[in-house]
Amino acid sequence: MNKLSYKKILSKKNKMPITCLTAYSKPIAKILDGEVDLILIGDSLGTTVYGMKNTRGVTLDMMKNHGRAVVKNTKFSMTVVDMPYNTYRNKKEALNNANILINFTKANFVKIETDNKTIDIVKYLTDNKINVVSHIGVTPQQFVNFKKIKSVGKQNEDRKKLLELATQLEQAGSKLIVLECINQLTAKKITNILSIPTIGIGSSKHCDGQVLVIDDILNFNSDIKKPKFVKNFTNIEENISKAVKKFAITVKNKKFPQQKHSYK
Ligand code: KIV
Repeated sequence: MNKLSYKKILSKKNKMPITCLTAYSKPIAKILDGEVDLILIGDSLGTTVYGMKNTRGVTLDMMKNHGRAVVKNTKFSMTVVDMPYNTYRNKKEALNNANILINFTKANFVKIETDNKTIDIVKYLTDNKINVVSHIGVTPQQFVNFKKIKSVGKQNEDRKKLLELATQLEQAGSKLIVLECINQLTAKKITNILSIPTIGIGSSKHCDGQVLVIDDILNFNSDIKKPKFVKNFTNIEENISKAVKKFAITVKNKKFPQQKHSYK
């Protein structure tokens, strides 16, 4: 198997759904590698790994370290690393931090949460040879309280604005665009008018691809209330919990460690 290229991902548009999951660590990266087209080192790690209430406390150093761990252990899939909150407030800051992230992690793309005030930042980054994934619709960095998140793009006026924004982001050079919690008709229209692939999260089957947070498909962190668009594909917590219980009982019963686990 060869490393996937952007050209290959682009060629999937209108032909085959593109797959993307998040990873924050080496073991998960190794499992995802080659199974999904894109691995996203998402700033969702703020909530999933660090137990924060939202993603605003995520730092560039966190993204650098988790990004490097994942990319180093990814041979076949392409990798996307999130730029955290307040690291792309103007063109210069964005380019400086994008270069730091890309040089340290060697990820293929940076992802930024975009609106019509940040189109020029996408253009500036792409003009400076940074591969940008734009993220529109519900952009979690704008939310302090995730309970307030609602889908967007249902009303004609909002639909028109999102279509315009997506078009402008493509023109600014975005390589891919994440559509989060966007009304299905709007997501369909955006997907149809763009030449770049759309990757949906809570934005229906009409997108060119789908992304989910790895914890959500595994039913990890199950105490966090999950949005409607999440689907569990297994229950990893149950397995971990069984193993932990077995370990504790075995140690208490003095059945572990045995001679074979000990050094002479
Ligand atoms: O940070 C993240 O994991 C994301 C996905 C939810 C798209 O941005």
